Amino acid sequence: MDNFKKFPDNFLWGGAIAANQAEGAYLENGKGLSTSDVLPAGGEARFRAILNPQEFIDNMEGYRPSHLAIDFYHRYKEDVALLGEMGFKCFRTSINWTRIFPEGDEETPNEEGLKFYDELFDELLKYNIQPVITISHYEMPLGLVKKYGGWRSREVIECYVRYAKTLFNRYKDKVKYWMTFNEINITAHAPFVGAGVIIKEGENAKQAIYQAAHHQFMASALAVKACHEIDPEAKIGCMLAGSINYPYTCKPDDVFEAMQKDRESFFFGDVQARGYYPSYIKRFFRENNVVIKMEDGDEEILRNNTVDYVAFSYYMSGVVSTAPEDKDKTEGNFMSGVRNPYLKASDWGWQIDPKGFRYILNYYYDRYQKPLFVVENGLGAVDVVEDGDVINDDYRINYLRDHIYEMREAIEDGVELLGYTTWGPIDLVSAGTGEMKKRYGFIYVDRDNEGNGTLRRLRKKSFNWYKKVIETNGQEL
Ligand code: BG6
Repeated sequence: MDNFKKFPDNFLWGGAIAANQAEGAYLENGKGLSTSDVLPAGGEARFRAILNPQEFIDNMEGYRPSHLAIDFYHRYKEDVALLGEMGFKCFRTSINWTRIFPEGDEETPNEEGLKFYDELFDELLKYNIQPVITISHYEMPLGLVKKYGGWRSREVIECYVRYAKTLFNRYKDKVKYWMTFNEINITAHAPFVGAGVIIKEGENAKQAIYQAAHHQFMASALAVKACHEIDPEAKIGCMLAGSINYPYTCKPDDVFEAMQKDRESFFFGDVQARGYYPSYIKRFFRENNVVIKMEDGDEEILRNNTVDYVAFSYYMSGVVSTAPEDKDKTEGNFMSGVRNPYLKASDWGWQIDPKGFRYILNYYYDRYQKPLFVVENGLGAVDVVEDGDVINDDYRINYLRDHIYEMREAIEDGVELLGYTTWGPIDLVSAGTGEMKKRYGFIYVDRDNEGNGTLRRLRKKSFNWYKKVIETNGQEL
């Protein structure tokens, strides 16, 4: 591969995890139960729980992967040292809301929880690794779900803003990059995961989902406002599950359908980055009997507090057809779709498309004209530990190399990009399936789907490869 195109000198190379998929210690030092703490492991049960979690809330028996996860809570020093060894410039993680406000609606925060993140951020800074922090990553206090129905209720905005302000005040000297909600557009597909919303039998799900999303938009805008007031130097972004769809054919109907599909997720970025509800959503609301209840001043708050940057995850592209029935299907990130005959897929059916990465980077930048931040990208795969604790994950290296190459092309195309964090630099619990078997890391964690294993950490082949990528600022892939 050529050595010609350069990454910016201050490009933020790193990796990303989420508190609920890594920390464990689910009830330690005052932490309360969160929505992710009720989700079980394993394909079918996890899938069922994501769609209808009530039975898993009512009966907490059985193994829950978030309860110990990879025990990052107790082992973060060892893990951060490994990230430091790789030369990470930044590390994205989230704050477990329930460590700070165990039930969600308390007036005062839990000091023990705040202390943990103080220590974690100090440890990162010791290695010159910038913390990049998601305020809420697929978890919220279960207390808020039980009391208010999650983000269905406007009351939750106040709880979130109190939580966010607590974080900005406490960590303003340590954290300069914030994000308000992980993959906020997933609220439309997995409302319990995204917004703590349990759909009731017979109700208009879209009404519940988009009203919850409105409350999240308001909370996000108010957090942007507070962040700018408390620390004018900090940058705060929205975060989207990057989704870009190709039409199955050039038939105009397919092309239009693909645009409509894209708009399902663009909508969430449009409100947060442009500051208003886009005109196309009005028809969608009308045709789906959705009426958003707003209060006076909401529109002004959204307009005046847009995000500083647009962060997103990218794993795959999608394909849309007006006649999907007779087409092969494939899996995706909380969504499934039509298989692209030109692409290979991961073992979990996620279609591998590096050119789509360049495409989406250009697409988002054209649309938003704000700096972008790629905060998740990677390959979930089965790793085999060979004799001598060797893990030859060339498939992962190939995936990342091809994506980084296209990212460099996108920068050359004119895209302003703050940084790139691969997903799960240390193996962690999968959000979609609850498995450990689906691994993304440069660092292997000895733990299986049922929760067995020593938890010891091993460097995979990709560890030294990524170290070199960072060392050469992407020149050597
Ligand atoms: C994104 C999430 O959807 O993709 C992460 O932000 C998640 O939390 C990642 O882990 C990969 O998905 P999965 O299902 O393979 O863990």
